[in-house]
Amino acid sequence: MADGRIAVIGSGYVGLTSGACLASLGHDVVCGDSDATKVAALSRGEVPILEPGLDEMVAKGIASGRLTFVHGATAAAKGSRYIFLCLPTPDGGDGRADLRIVHNVVAEIGPVLDPGAILVTKSTVPVGTAHDITATVARPDIAVVSNPEFLQEGTAVRNFMNPDRIVVGSTDRVAAEAVAELYAAFGAPSVVTSPESSELIKYASNAFLAMKLSFINSIGALAETVGADVAEIANGMGFDERIGPKFLRTGPGWGGSCFPKDTRALATIAADHHVQFPLLEATTVSNDQAQDRVADKVRAAAGGSLDGVVVALWGLTFKAGTDDLRDSPALAVAGRLAAEGAVLRGYDPAISVDVKAGKDRPDVTVVPDAYSAVAGAEVLVVLTEWPIFSELDLVKTAEGMTGRTIVDGRGMIDPAAAAAAGFRLVPLGRPAH
Ligand code: UGA
Repeated sequence: MADGRIAVIGSGYVGLTSGACLASLGHDVVCGDSDATKVAALSRGEVPILEPGLDEMVAKGIASGRLTFVHGATAAAKGSRYIFLCLPTPDGGDGRADLRIVHNVVAEIGPVLDPGAILVTKSTVPVGTAHDITATVARPDIAVVSNPEFLQEGTAVRNFMNPDRIVVGSTDRVAAEAVAELYAAFGAPSVVTSPESSELIKYASNAFLAMKLSFINSIGALAETVGADVAEIANGMGFDERIGPKFLRTGPGWGGSCFPKDTRALATIAADHHVQFPLLEATTVSNDQAQDRVADKVRAAAGGSLDGVVVALWGLTFKAGTDDLRDSPALAVAGRLAAEGAVLRGYDPAISVDVKAGKDRPDVTVVPDAYSAVAGAEVLVVLTEWPIFSELDLVKTAEGMTGRTIVDGRGMIDPAAAAAAGFRLVPLGRPAH
């Protein structure tokens, strides 16, 4: 076990998962957060986010005495050997990450850190942040290590407990290896790098995956027009070990709280350093086009105009397994429909309140079940890959609708069942029948 306590600053999605999972490995973990109400709830074992397995992990950690929650960064950092910074780094509005929260916390805890403590950045931070944090702390006895996370929402606990690799970057190799050692139980390869490389590995990984998705979505558009099937193409490509089978599922574009922000941020980092990186811009443009194409199909299904047309949306979150609506491709498509006058009724297993129009979202009336969503709808569009959408009764679905088209943005609907229920099925990435 690590000789020394681990402090995790920030009990959001990354911090809470990291803290609970590190405690499950036998480490002594204290999580500090600035939100006293959240700290009180977490201390009672109440987890505020939907993440499979996290409730149990937190409950076990609390019961074992190895996971505790305190109010404030200083209370957690004092007396800890490892201080994991899991703080928000929102888009600053100009494509650059806003690091004020990180630097404020570092400035606050710097003076109280134990001699020899190691500051670990887990938040996704621009290249040079470890260097800047070293300057902010201004203590030669404190090492700074970049240790990016690669957790996916909806499978974060599983991802944490089964990492593909552990990346640690620092100018202090001993400190980097000490941080890698915290994960030794996993037996995953450790990649020990400079802080700059480590910081870029995170952005490069996310932007690469986004690029892979934009690529397959464009192949899907081509497949539709030439009579091919994108799923067959992805299968054929994926056997090539250099390509791999994952992240080749076509859909209504990619989204979530990371890919859009990180792809933009990497483009800005490149531009700031006068490096041309046209693939990044193309990745984002292709994603907008993927969303346009789904909206085009819905408009076409409605006969060419969406004005006053009721459209049912199955799925609102940015992917299945989460209640996160941030930068959701489902809402990006919905926004396009609403802009043309469509009236939107949505169902999502993880969303129970109406979606209100905002920066990246339109008004959607949210109903409590999939069949109510289609009542009076001209077109049904499937936008998130919740497994339940494959299991619903399409005859019952058809009964409530005025129209007979399903635009299947996620490949969830069985063509034979759709045909048997009298639907015209418009898929993505292969021609409609
Ligand atoms: C992403 C990365 O996958 C994680 O490795 C990373 O740690 C995380 O960002 C982060 O930076 O914190 P996440 O945002 O949870 O994880 O979501 P993904 O599972 O990667 O999905 C992103 C989007 O791609 C979703 O809209 C999803 O529906 C879409 N997608 C994914 C597809 O359209 N097709 C696929 O085959 C896979």
